[in-house]
Amino acid sequence: MTGKIIGLGSYLPEKIVTNDDLSKIMDTSDEWITERTGIKSRHIADPVKDRPSIMVVKAAKQAVEAAGIAPQDIDLIVTASTTPDLIFPTMSTTIQEAIGASENCGCFDVNSACPGFVAAYNTVESFIETGNVKLALVAGVECNSNFVDWTDRGTCILFGDGAGCAVLKAEEGKRNEFIMRSSGKRGTCLHCESARQPYRKDEEGFDKLTGFNMNGREVFKFAITEVPKIITDLSVKYGFDLGEIDYFILHQANQRIIEATAKKLKQPLEKFPMNIMNTGNCSSASIPILLKEMNDKGMLRRGQKIVMASFGAGLVWNANYIEY
Ligand code: UT7
Repeated sequence: MTGKIIGLGSYLPEKIVTNDDLSKIMDTSDEWITERTGIKSRHIADPVKDRPSIMVVKAAKQAVEAAGIAPQDIDLIVTASTTPDLIFPTMSTTIQEAIGASENCGCFDVNSACPGFVAAYNTVESFIETGNVKLALVAGVECNSNFVDWTDRGTCILFGDGAGCAVLKAEEGKRNEFIMRSSGKRGTCLHCESARQPYRKDEEGFDKLTGFNMNGREVFKFAITEVPKIITDLSVKYGFDLGEIDYFILHQANQRIIEATAKKLKQPLEKFPMNIMNTGNCSSASIPILLKEMNDKGMLRRGQKIVMASFGAGLVWNANYIEY
């Protein structure tokens, strides 16, 4: 069995923050951010209108409508998020209720930071492969702006907010393949404490919040080393040629990481779609938002061979091969 994407949805907050806007509140410039990351602007969530549970429900409703399915037929919802507005219940049960899925629908969330969507997608594929799931919704949603340290110009300029969803339908066919890897020993390269740290107080006696904490250079080196390698390993393990791939859909973290990956794989950059310039890094929502944008532009056609690959905190990196 194989999972086919039959509907896509996404949501980006209305508020757009440009590099020039950021340069008015911190010591940075459009030139620096563009040159180092490719990012020109990002969407930033409204604290009331764009809570993650609201953003992801909007994306899910769009995906279900695009798929033309009855929500009651969905067997499984898996949502990837690292920045949910609720620790529990899950984002997935929130979606279940909002779209009218039945109580026969399994729901759980995955926290795997930026690689979360591919991790969730691979999880759903595995359920499909067992024959237990015929119809599933896989989602990614992030409100990074709630957690970045807005005094750390090396990190906060990278991130954006948003949500994306895909409806997957089980069909007869060769199963989709994936590889998942992780390196907990490098966890401190990129980490974020949970909201309350009662054991540590700031100067005013409040529980301390550190926000996203990143060694950018280490993460950069890790990404440009491991992403080309995992894609090559996937092609060797499952016997496809990189030249056959129509699109390499990479986590949108930095244009230079994507360019370096294309170069190392000796594949044309046109096969690496990007929207990072207008979205920034939306963590686990980046790939489904990009897929939806590609679909809207008419870039996706049945039978296309696609590799998705993502990387981030953990450190974790993963890749999958699907036939659209
Ligand atoms: O989802 C995965 C998440 N993370 C990533 O993918 C991040 C991967 N890493 C990166 O994308 C890059 O490392 C960054 C874009 C974060 C940083 O680029 P870099 O080329 O590694 O710069 P750097 O951190 O080495 O900083 C170079 C200089 C420093 O100044 P000095 O020490 O050379 O005087 C920084 O203080 O640039 C300075 N700098 C800035 N200047 C203007 C750092 N951030 C900024 C900024 N504006 N926003």
